[in-house]
Amino acid sequence: MRKLLKTVAVVITTGWLCSCSGEKTEANYQVIPAPQEIVMAANGDFTLGSGVKIVYPEGNEAMRRNAEYLAEYLQKATGKVYQTMAGTEGKGNILLQLVADAEKPEGYQLKVNGDGVVISGASEAGVFYGIQTLRKSIPVVENSTPVLAGVEIKDAPRFDYRGAHFDVSRHFFTIEEVKSFIDMMALHNMNRLHWHITDDQGWRIEIKKYPLLTEIGSQRKETVIGHNTGKYDGKPYGGFYTQEQAKEIVAYAAERYITVIPEIDLPGHMQAALAAYPNLGCTGGPYDVWTIWGVSDNVLCAGNDDVLTFIDDVLTEIIDIFPSEYIHIGGDECPKVKWQTCPKCQARIKELGIKSDDKHSKEEYLQSFIINHGEKFLNAHGRQMIGWDETLEGGLAPNATVMSWRGEGGGIEAAKQHHDVIMTPNTYLYFDYYQSKDTENEPEAIGGYLPVERVYSYEPMPRSLTPEEQKYIIGVQANHWTEYIPTFAQLQYMCLPRWAALCEIQWSQPEKKNYQDFLARLPQLIKSYQAEGYNYAKHVFDVTVDFQSNAETGAVDVRMKTIDNAPIHYTLDGAEPTAASPVAEEVLSIKENCTLKAMAVRPEGNSRVFTEKINFSKSTCKPIVANQPVNKQYEFNGVSTLNDGLKGNGNYKTGRWIAFYRNDMDVTIDLQQPTEISSVSFSTCVEKGDWIFDVRGVTIEVSEDGDKFTQVFSEEYPAMAETDRNGLYEHKQTFDPVTTRYVRVLAPSEHSIPAWHGGKGNFGFLFVDEIVIE
Ligand code: ACM
Ligand code: ZN
Repeated sequence: MRKLLKTVAVVITTGWLCSCSGEKTEANYQVIPAPQEIVMAANGDFTLGSGVKIVYPEGNEAMRRNAEYLAEYLQKATGKVYQTMAGTEGKGNILLQLVADAEKPEGYQLKVNGDGVVISGASEAGVFYGIQTLRKSIPVVENSTPVLAGVEIKDAPRFDYRGAHFDVSRHFFTIEEVKSFIDMMALHNMNRLHWHITDDQGWRIEIKKYPLLTEIGSQRKETVIGHNTGKYDGKPYGGFYTQEQAKEIVAYAAERYITVIPEIDLPGHMQAALAAYPNLGCTGGPYDVWTIWGVSDNVLCAGNDDVLTFIDDVLTEIIDIFPSEYIHIGGDECPKVKWQTCPKCQARIKELGIKSDDKHSKEEYLQSFIINHGEKFLNAHGRQMIGWDETLEGGLAPNATVMSWRGEGGGIEAAKQHHDVIMTPNTYLYFDYYQSKDTENEPEAIGGYLPVERVYSYEPMPRSLTPEEQKYIIGVQANHWTEYIPTFAQLQYMCLPRWAALCEIQWSQPEKKNYQDFLARLPQLIKSYQAEGYNYAKHVFDVTVDFQSNAETGAVDVRMKTIDNAPIHYTLDGAEPTAASPVAEEVLSIKENCTLKAMAVRPEGNSRVFTEKINFSKSTCKPIVANQPVNKQYEFNGVSTLNDGLKGNGNYKTGRWIAFYRNDMDVTIDLQQPTEISSVSFSTCVEKGDWIFDVRGVTIEVSEDGDKFTQVFSEEYPAMAETDRNGLYEHKQTFDPVTTRYVRVLAPSEHSIPAWHGGKGNFGFLFVDEIVIE
């Protein structure tokens, strides 16, 4: 596709007659999410001079708004004011129109030729997505006049449900911030805002029948600092939305074709409600609005009829505020400890005749009773229920839609049971997770690691489902839990640009997805982020560096790149690079000790500095063979990782470490000529909780011909004790100097995890890096 665009770009001439001013720019249709079909058409270009009007059908308020949005977007991109007007005159204008297409209600066509631009949508929403594509095609340049090459784009989304979840309980966000979140969603063609408005740490929606929910439940006396450190900030914290304000959000979202789905999380995650109405808990309290993070044991009492009334009353007001077909009632992470000892809950279990079986406890079935109650109420009022995947435990409510968050397993199971599913697995789509391994230089996050590339790799349609079952996967959503996201600027940082990857999963057909192509399109979308003033994460603009040990030349070959081909300046002496430092060539061959520092230089600023130490010893970049296989899961660059001059740190997943599992480390290095040596060192990285242990011994053998080996060192080590620390272990073996060409290093992994460990009797992993021979 891009090749085609290039040829068209040269066809665009400059300087013909038009009412244009400022710099001419060229629209390139390189948008995110990738449209289904882009066909460049050689029937003329169209210049968006300031005389161009945005024309919409008379009497259609939503289309008038669409026209206004486009005018606003174009003004942000170009600095120019474009007039809107009702009518049907397409010549010389941007014409917005509706055309019937029952099959693809959110689809659109965007046509450009010498006469003008026409966006035809199957609905007002479809036109809106066409507007988004046009907007994202136009370069953001102050005081510019865009020239549009002739094109026909046909597009429609892959999934009907394209969601973003927003937790406003753990931290509260203002109406203006929620609106800004909605604008961000619109830019990414999303259409469902899952608004998590209640939780243990704050109840955020006015319920007129239960005024204490906000009077008491929306305020906590202070907030824990960090990861439940036991220290508190001492600052009262709170906030809530009145019903009027919530309706204002619903309307604001609807004007952007986004439905707000509220979540009242029950029967767990209810401590803030219990603080307001302690009679709804099993013990009667008192409870406080929770000041720490985690999952509270204090949940709604399932044996109390007042709780059922409470659920009905709250949902009655919620469905009045939120016209959404779906209402989310949670169901996640509900500890059952209080229910186990609560006389009312136990009486309810008896009354319902609930028995435990080999699948579920009585209390899990009791949770289904509560969720079923909620669903029945919603269905009776013409609404549908969504629940988290825990609602599978104890049996799904009959018409429930399942949100699969603990990986995809729950979603797969629900689809097999013919329930609709929204995929939101924490393994790909929890955007409260870190997006960089360099966590020390990130705002504190909940944990995890989900960089853009990992997000982009997500395919929501499980292969294990039949085509019939796959139809139940109706959507994809990312979740934004805000325990560690106290400000809106930080929330934007966690969303962007991961939403770019997300929206391509939600919108584009899988065959259109290509990560390198996506990266090439990303800088243009980021220009829109800049124009909107969004705070986005810049990791994708950092220098990415590939190291290859080159046994033929004895060098470490370094290849550096950036997504936008910005020049990379580097130093090798540890000095900070500047724009005056040398520019990286395609391959940089390194043959001696150095500290590489590299940075991309752009007019808008420099990237972060990449730093790596490269150390040469007698074994670095020499031919190496593995006599036993490397574990496939942690093979990375293969066995040459062990003598590539690069040392692993305390994180075994970085690619610097390779693993041996069910095998031992057993490698032979060819020093290529008789060489005097007296030591062989290497490191291991231990993480006992992940079944990763130290070596059980080391043997070093040498050989002149690579055939007959003589042992120069051998030691055995005991199994690791429970009290032994995790982290790096250095192993340095010294022996009398010997002149040799081949060196064999043999170190047994743990073949039987000791009895004190949960994995006792199993094989352990062995992670090794950098064999240094001196
Ligand atoms: C969840 O993350 N507790 C749904
Ligand atoms: Zn109870």
